[in-house]
Amino acid sequence: MAAAPVPPQPKRRGFLKECLAVVLGALAGAAPAGAGLAVLLDPLRRHGGQFTGFIRVASLSAVPPDGVPRKFPVIASHTDAWNKFPAVPVGAVYLRRTADTPLRAFNVICPHAGCFVDYVAARHGYLCPCHNSTFDLEGRIQDTRSPAPRGLDELAVELRNGTEIWVRFQNFRAGTARRIPLT
Ligand code: FES
Repeated sequence: MAAAPVPPQPKRRGFLKECLAVVLGALAGAAPAGAGLAVLLDPLRRHGGQFTGFIRVASLSAVPPDGVPRKFPVIASHTDAWNKFPAVPVGAVYLRRTADTPLRAFNVICPHAGCFVDYVAARHGYLCPCHNSTFDLEGRIQDTRSPAPRGLDELAVELRNGTEIWVRFQNFRAGTARRIPLT
């Protein structure tokens, strides 16, 4: 006697339905998860790799009023709602003052192409070792043959609590006559 025909397999159909539901569920969840990740990373994206704002750089006693520029690293840490980023060097500045003039701060980056300028006592100014741009103690171009399109970038400086030197650190685009802040 012949065997009876095999009935439809409800278990297999159920399995396929479950697989489809899992795939659709994963796709539906992908968009909110991506949005959540973007929000989580938002402080970093907004940060853009540039640290700006006032940063404590040195104590007043480290900059004697003799008119000689002193170079200091700029160390910045950053805290947002989620993380505390460790302090890292983000640049350097020259600080200078005399008995008669207030503190002044210059970014050490040459506005020609971004090398670090050196203070050269014999020149009473700064020299960029890359292409020989020269700047006087006020940050102005000293030798008109300098390829730098502008003087050194001066930064706002504040004396806080009588002894703390804070500088509003900022980098600017190199190679342009106009100072264009990098963000
Ligand atoms: S980078 Fe300073 S002169 Fe070119």
